[in-house]
Amino acid sequence: MAEHSLGIIGSGPIGQGLATLWSRAGYKVTLGVRSADSAMRVHVPTDIEVGTFEDAARHDVVVLSLRHDGAEAVATRLAPQLEGALVLDTMNAVTLRHGTVVSGLPNGLTEGEWLARILPHSVVVRAFSHIQDELLTSRAQRYPGMWAVGYASNDAASQPRIEKIIADTGYVPIFAGTLRDSAILDPGGAAFPHMFTAADLRGLVTVHHLPAMLNSFNTATLGDHLHADVTWHFPYGPTLGIRETFSGKRDVLEHLERVQASGVRISDLHTTNETSMGAVVLATGTFPTPRGPVTSPIVSLVSIRDGLINKVTEYWDTAAIR
Ligand SMILES: NC(=O)c1ccc[n+]([C@@H]2O[C@H](COP(=O)([O-])OP(=O)(O)OC[C@H]3O[C@@H](n4cnc5c(N)ncnc54)[C@H](OP(=O)(O)O)[C@@H]3O)[C@@H](O)[C@H]2O)c1
Repeated sequence: MAEHSLGIIGSGPIGQGLATLWSRAGYKVTLGVRSADSAMRVHVPTDIEVGTFEDAARHDVVVLSLRHDGAEAVATRLAPQLEGALVLDTMNAVTLRHGTVVSGLPNGLTEGEWLARILPHSVVVRAFSHIQDELLTSRAQRYPGMWAVGYASNDAASQPRIEKIIADTGYVPIFAGTLRDSAILDPGGAAFPHMFTAADLRGLVTVHHLPAMLNSFNTATLGDHLHADVTWHFPYGPTLGIRETFSGKRDVLEHLERVQASGVRISDLHTTNETSMGAVVLATGTFPTPRGPVTSPIVSLVSIRDGLINKVTEYWDTAAIR
């Protein structure tokens, strides 16, 4: 479906910047401001209609771009009007912990999940959360098609529509996952608050999913995630009588399937040091021994290429396993 109009609730730098980008792409934009005073601070192209939050909420596509601490009351009030609408959430519950930016939402809740609880009858989309206001319009206008915006949504059927709306701003849409899986786009997430090319953001999203990809070792389906040119190194392998390096998908898979069939299992997978090219993956390995199962930490340096695992260097506590 081609969009022709949309509403933006919130007239800060992000609301004004997005209004400008969509108006330049030919959309009829309603920019919702909080008060007459707020309207005085708006400087956007003249074809943008400046109205109330309610005016902006009348569209089928609505962007919520409010200060986070004022957003719950506004979203709750407008929920009946937003039923059935596609709602793009740019908002961040930014807080500092020990000087580091983190999300202020409780219990690991992502921003997208938070808004979807308030708007259960809208299609909530997380987008534009990691682009800083100073760069929002300049990067899109000077280098259209170069810089990427990560988005998250639970509604697979809406993805082509969402991608068209994002692409019309000049940014390349990159799907980051479901709302549950969208912490990468929130304060404290690996994408926040940075600019990426499409290839780099795609890489970062892949890296973010490495725990789930590597967990498929347990079901002997890891082959789905291995690059044809993968190499797998076990620097301490020779101490267990295992070759140090396996090269190519077939060689690696044959080895891993032997290990999996021997009863080795991995659990508690998580990443640190995520970049667009790879991450450190930490896990716990459970190894069968004549004395019964023994657990050991596993530390792996994992690189990705073309969305697939391309190089792994894996360290176990081989002394514990022997
Ligand atoms: N700035 C960035 O670089 C950036 C980047 C990505 C995402 N974000 C997120 O996107 C959202 C918008 O950011 P922003 O920098 O454009 O704007 P902002 O200055 O945080 O606020 C934008 C809007 O929120 C309204 N507002 C403030 N307090 C309110 C309240 N208590 N109740 C209702 N409305 C209230 C403002 O109205 P008034 O004009 O009347 O105050 C304005 O319309 C924020 O959640 C922000 O975290 C920001």
